[in-house]
Amino acid sequence: NPILQDNLKVLASYGKEIIEPASGMLACRDVGKGKMPEPEVLFQHILRAIAFEKDLAGKKVLVTAGPTQEAIDPVRYITNHSTGKMGYAIAENAMLRGADVTLVTGPCAMEPPMFVKVKPVISAQDMYEAVTEEYEQTDIVIMTAAVADYRPAQVSKVKKKEDDMSIPLTRTKDILATLGASKTHQFLCGFSMETQNMLENSRTKIAKKNLDMIVANNLKVAGAGFGTDTNVITLIANDMEKELPLMSKKEAAGCILDTILERM
Ligand code: CTP
Repeated sequence: NPILQDNLKVLASYGKEIIEPASGMLACRDVGKGKMPEPEVLFQHILRAIAFEKDLAGKKVLVTAGPTQEAIDPVRYITNHSTGKMGYAIAENAMLRGADVTLVTGPCAMEPPMFVKVKPVISAQDMYEAVTEEYEQTDIVIMTAAVADYRPAQVSKVKKKEDDMSIPLTRTKDILATLGASKTHQFLCGFSMETQNMLENSRTKIAKKNLDMIVANNLKVAGAGFGTDTNVITLIANDMEKELPLMSKKEAAGCILDTILERM
């Protein structure tokens, strides 16, 4: 209706945010755009408007999350247990704080947060390409993804035989190290999962990949690591070591972004 269209334009001219109607079967039996959005969608809009101080407004944040899949042949692949929870929580927290967020995600079962630009990828090479494409115009990069360090050297149909067999693997590109080597203004934050010598190994990674901070978690601590809703993390920089208690991944996401902002 033109009157409705005019009213919407007036609201927009006053700077009001307009939540688009959902699509589906309407009360009048027409199918199309005109339904009340799901309460969860409205709730997300409200959260984005009022739940957080917009201390990341104007910042472009790039988050990677989840596992990568490296094809062995057209039906099989190598992957890991990453669920993407930590990365999705960081992307959501950054979005709620006003950042312009891009989420480069390997295959994950979860719905990505709303109001975030999502770039789905499969392999480490795909992730490398998606990330390097965004890097130049990004202010903060947070690499939570569990990127495969190796991929099968050849992708061809594996036929079973009586004997044992082995699959030749070749190194994937180290995405973070590439970003570190060409860093200009970006704040680079990596993740490190360790079972021993967590601090020492994490510090080596900071130096090797030219990082500003690394989030370390010890896989041997209860409540940390893959799949859980909680994490136990230590934030490490050249001049900092901040050990945080057991907390939800959502809370951990907030602490990570607080610390990055403090240090930028
Ligand atoms: N990473 C990356 N590109 C890769 C592999 C890892 O960007 N090909 C990133 C991860 O997203 C993570 C950090 O580098 O932020 C982890 O560093 P890595 O050296 O791979 O450490 P781990 O895999 O944790 O440990 P290890 O060296 O023992 O394999």
